[in-house]
Amino acid sequence: MSKIISICSEKGGVGKTTTTVNVAGGLVQLGKKVLVIDLDQQQNASRTLGYIKDGKPTVSELIYNEVAEIGTDFSEIIRHSESGIDYIPSSPMLTNITSTMANDEDSNYIIRRILSNDVFAEYDYILLDCRTLLDLLASNAMNASNYVIIPIESGIYAYEGLDKMLNKVASINNSTNRNLRVLGILLNKRQRTNVSVSLADSIRGEYENITFRTTIPYCPAQTEKAIMNQKGSVFDKSSSLGQAYRELAEEIAEREK
Ligand SMILES: Nc1ncnc2c1ncn2[C@@H]1O[C@H](COP(=O)(O)OP(=O)(O)OP(=O)(O)O)[C@@H](O)[C@H]1O
Ligand SMILES: [Mg+2]
Repeated sequence: MSKIISICSEKGGVGKTTTTVNVAGGLVQLGKKVLVIDLDQQQNASRTLGYIKDGKPTVSELIYNEVAEIGTDFSEIIRHSESGIDYIPSSPMLTNITSTMANDEDSNYIIRRILSNDVFAEYDYILLDCRTLLDLLASNAMNASNYVIIPIESGIYAYEGLDKMLNKVASINNSTNRNLRVLGILLNKRQRTNVSVSLADSIRGEYENITFRTTIPYCPAQTEKAIMNQKGSVFDKSSSLGQAYRELAEEIAEREK
């Protein structure tokens, strides 16, 4: 059975997309078969994985079709990236998708129904890159998932997004998906400043069991380099970010054994 993981936070710019794509890359390096689903109309994950608009259906059509009970040709919907990660791209149509989703009789489980299709069974991991809204699309992602990863920026506002996300996971746990677990809080953009260090200590103290051992350093030069090389946020294996994400992938593979 695939492990389905939502990478989710209501706070923007914390590293959801960077984490989705690089954890996927790390898991592929470990020999796993991985699918990334881009659930953000900004299409950052799609572009990072090499997506260029190709006229074929995206995740938006997949959701529309499911609500309208129209079959989808899955061979067209799954793209294959050079890095070995498979992905389903998003489109700007995703912006207002929740008004369509709300019409579904079983609107909490549209993505779960889609992922129950046989073509998805071959993946060891399915990673869902969520957008910043905790709306019906995000709940759908979490209702379809076994786990959530919550990336946070190691700065003074880290707690803001974290509390909201933990409450959201708890409320989903109590209502629509009892199996959902926090796989880990990920300390991203770790710096050597006092604020960053003491924040990391206090999060670890408070949420010891659910904070990843691995942290991701703040390396703007490496993210810039990846962008200049037209790799979006896919990091070189030998870079410190590449290595940190590989370590995180190992921790994830270990954690849910
Ligand atoms: N460890 C890091 N060091 C330096 N820059 C980083 C790091 N992680 C992410 N970034 C940069 O921070 C920005 C936001 O990252 P990312 O797009 O992954 O966040 P997000 O949570 O997906 O954002 P959004 O809310 O827009 O979806 C990007 O420019 C990314 O390159
Ligand atoms: Mg993003």
